[in-house]
Order: sequence, then structure tokens, then C-alpha cells
Amino acid sequence: MTLRLAILPGDGIGPEVVDAALSILDAAKAADGLTYDSQRFPFSAAHFLETGHVLDDADLDTLRGFDAIFLGAVGGLPNDPRLAGGVIEKGILLKLRFALDQYINLRPVQLYPGIETPLKNKVPEDIDFVVVRENTEDLYCGLGGVAREKTPHEVSNQTMLATRFGVERCVRYAFELARTRPRKHLTLVHKTNVLTFVGQTWHRTFTEVAGDYSDVETAYHHVDACCMYMVNAPEVYDTVVVPNMFGDIITDLGAAIAGGMGIASSGNLNPDGAAPSMFEPVHGSAPDIAGQNKANPIATIDSLGLLLRETGRIKHDETAIKCGQRIGAAVKKVTPNFTGKSLDRSGYGTDDIAKMVIDAL
Ligand code: NAI
Ligand code: MG
Repeated sequence: MTLRLAILPGDGIGPEVVDAALSILDAAKAADGLTYDSQRFPFSAAHFLETGHVLDDADLDTLRGFDAIFLGAVGGLPNDPRLAGGVIEKGILLKLRFALDQYINLRPVQLYPGIETPLKNKVPEDIDFVVVRENTEDLYCGLGGVAREKTPHEVSNQTMLATRFGVERCVRYAFELARTRPRKHLTLVHKTNVLTFVGQTWHRTFTEVAGDYSDVETAYHHVDACCMYMVNAPEVYDTVVVPNMFGDIITDLGAAIAGGMGIASSGNLNPDGAAPSMFEPVHGSAPDIAGQNKANPIATIDSLGLLLRETGRIKHDETAIKCGQRIGAAVKKVTPNFTGKSLDRSGYGTDDIAKMVIDAL
């Protein structure tokens, strides 16, 4: 099958790292017999400042026609008043996640060879897990409000939402994923001792679904304990399933122990294939180094590998899976070149690193 990719290069270093990743795809595809069509879309802070257009329902309908979305990064200068109020974050990133029902945020946490972790005495075998974060509910669904704003009597609330449907589809995805990994181990992370209402929905659902996966070993950790284990015993984790807000926080910790934002990849998945999933590096648009050939494209290249593997799984396309696996393996061959260097200020150009990955293929 021909993979249809929507490319959203975005702002700042986004276009640079996306082009680097696409050069890898062009080098890799022939060997696996992969074919793809792509179309570029301008949605970004720069496009908004130029035209006033963010991303509307007609754009969403167009994007629905693709197999997957590949995003660089969006966002302008952090203090630009014209971008205040999250116009880009809400208008592009969150809008896509919700409208395309990308209910899983998948974040691999893996220490690659040659990459330095801030954790003492930990090696790649110790840091190798994947976080399945619920991506559409919890505190992030926008339920709440504010009254008597900007007065001494201001009152505001934001509601944490858990639906049986939303929790179950997320938990089932996590069990399916855990089953494909060698350790077949899944940990639920929550705070059920304090968040007793939403916590029981999660815990009961997790326990019931576990009955369908007797081959997967399970564990439960409170989120605060999880933060501690991630630092002093990350080897306890294999697959982790977690609600939205706790997942947001622990995945940044996960990125940090695996070498930082410069290496972190992610996918926003609609695992049923009812709408396209979206893949992106975790870092932002880095306006400070844009246009200087300084951006490290590794996280974006790794996100492209994830795109191919996950889209291949969703669409039952072995060719895409194979190509994604080869790109993932090539990234791991290249990371030893960063031994003793900072990932983000390695001294290698964006083009040098892309060439290293192509050579490794
Ligand atoms: P950032 O991740 O863009 O940059 C933080 C620091 O890391 C900077 O010093 C930057 O030079 C460096 N850095 C990031 N990625 C790099 C790479 N690939 N290679 C080398 N160095 C890299 O975060 P920041 O500065 O907070 O945000 C900048 C803009 O990006 C903002 O507009 C923000 O809203 C947006 N942003 C967008 C995200 C997205 O599209 N998913 C995620 C995070 C931020
Ligand atoms: Mg975050």
C-alpha cells in the first residue's frame, strides 16, 4: 500500500528536522519496497501571524484523509504577546488530538547507547520502557470555569474526568502493547488512595481487563512513588499506563532520564485507525537555533520510525513496520557518536547527523 503522509513542518527548527527525517525515509524506503505520498501543510505560529488562520474544520477534514500526520514543532518566540493564551497549542496540537480522537499518547523511554543519563550507574538495559498516557480525558478535557474573575472573590475549578469507555480503551491498548514486549509487564500509575472516585474507575477497569490478558504480569504504583522509582530503579518498568495529567508529568521525567528532549519521540495515536495518528519529537521549535543547521534531528527521525511502526501496525502493513524498525535500529547505531557530547549542542550539523543515519541504514 502507498502510505499517505500529511507533513506539518511547523515553526523554527521544525522544517529543518522534518526535512532531515524525510531524507532518511527517502533513503530507507527502496530497500523495504515502501512507497509514500506526502502533502505539506503550513499550520504554524508563523502562518497564523501572517494570515490569521490557525486550523479550521475544513483543514481537519482534509487531514482525516491521510494515514498519518508527521509534525515538526509549532510555536513562536515564548513571550510573543500575539501568541498569548495558547492560540497555537490549543488551536493546533490539542485541536488535532481531540478532533482526531488520538486517545493514546505513546512515549518510549529508552536510553540509547552513548547517550548520557543523569542517573548514576544506569545503563541502556536499565532504562527501557514505554509510557501509554491517556490523551483525551482527565484534567485536560476543558471542563470547568472561572467566576468573579480578577476580583478578590475569584473562584475557579477544573474537573478531572474519567469515563469507563475512555479508561477501558486506553487500558486495553496498554495490555495489547505489553503483550508484544519481551517482559510482558504492565504497571498502572495513579493516585487511587487520594483520587478515590476517578481512581476506582481506573483500578477496577485495569483489574477487569487484566483478566483477558493472563500472560501479562501487572503492578500498581502511586504516581509519587513512580517518580521515585523512575529515578532510583527505572528497571522495574516495562509498559506503564497512566491518566493524562500524571502522564504529562512522568513522561517529561522519562525524557530526562533517557537523555533529554533532544532524544524524545512521541506518538498521538488513534489505534483503531478511524482517524490518522500524529507523530512528533517532544521538543519545541527552538527559535534560538532556527535556521543555523544546529538542530539535532534524532528525536524527529526516531518519531518517524515510530510513525512507520505504529501506522504499519494499525493498517496491517508489514512493509511500513519493517522500514520503521530499520530506521529505529539505524538511530541506535548512530547515538554512540554522541558519547561525551551534549545531544543538543553536539557540534554536528543537522545535515551531518542525517548523513550518519543514512550511512547506518
Ligand atoms: P524548545 O524545546 O523549543 O527549546 C528548549 C531548548 O532546547 C532550547 O535551548 C533549544 O535550542 C533546545 N533544543 C530543542 N530541540 C532541539 C534540537 N532538536 N536540537 C538542538 N537543540 C534543541 O522549548 P521552548 O524554548 O520552551 O519553546 C520554544 C517554542 O516551541 C515555544 O513557542 C513553545 O510553545 C514551542 N513548543 C512546541 C512544542 C510542540 O510543538 N510540541 C513542544 C514544546 C514547545
Ligand atoms: Mg509536557
